[in-house]
Amino acid sequence: MSERVTIQSLKEMKSKRQRITMLTAYDHAFARILDDAGIDILLVGDSLGMVALGYEDTLPVTVEEMIHHTRAVARGARRAMVIADMPFMSYQVSDEKALENAGNMMKLAGAHGVKLEGGARIVELVKKMTDTGIPVMGHLGLTPQSVHQFGGYGLQATDTKEAKSLLEDSLKLEEAGAFAIVLEKIPAELADLVTARLTIPTIGIGAGPACDGQVLVTHDLLGMFEKFVPKFVKRYANLKVVIDQAVKSYIDDVRADIFPSAEHSYRMEKGVLEDLMEAIDEDLRKA
Ligand code: KIV
Repeated sequence: MSERVTIQSLKEMKSKRQRITMLTAYDHAFARILDDAGIDILLVGDSLGMVALGYEDTLPVTVEEMIHHTRAVARGARRAMVIADMPFMSYQVSDEKALENAGNMMKLAGAHGVKLEGGARIVELVKKMTDTGIPVMGHLGLTPQSVHQFGGYGLQATDTKEAKSLLEDSLKLEEAGAFAIVLEKIPAELADLVTARLTIPTIGIGAGPACDGQVLVTHDLLGMFEKFVPKFVKRYANLKVVIDQAVKSYIDDVRADIFPSAEHSYRMEKGVLEDLMEAIDEDLRKA
């Protein structure tokens, strides 16, 4: 096993222009597979609300759900850094509550850091968290917890004012101690500019090729989540079709008495069945 990915190794990757890879994971099995494949960061994203829990958006996800899933992922990650999303309203009510919730993502769930959505409004909190020893990944651009404020999942920072504000937010987050920033669904030119200005890595999703790293929702990449597929998703497999075929074959085999065959069955030791039958007969005679 190679060494655990750390904040320092990510910074080094940026300086050497080695791309950082990040994918979402919500359970142990996927964490093991992605970690074995060599992914650098496993993000227990609050997208788990839609992908794993069937919610309409990320808003209903609770701290308890995040801890439950992060624990499973952390147990499967041997090399990858594990980052847990702070769900909606787990860091907005008070800094004290936010610190406690973030601390529990590390203490109880085993995350190596947390991810928070937002710019200027969370800068003070990010500083408090990083001063406390909680590594923070920022998230700018399309921040899905603000879906109702945005009125949908559209492209962000499209005009000069918004683009400038995003650049300023990224610099403030870096100054506050964030170790990396996710840039979601913003024009590629802006992501390029932000990436060049920051000393910490940017991780893009729908933010073009200039970011220091890339992240996707694993179920999108594997073709396992079809509710909506954004333009920025590249599908590397269509596992829904593969799973569908496998499950249909299983159903057919069970219905046709093909499965389980002798190959998948266990047999009694020689003589055990005869002895059992005799014992049953004896019991019947006595009754
Ligand atoms: O929740 C999530 O999966 C995310 C990524 C898409 C960046 O925040």
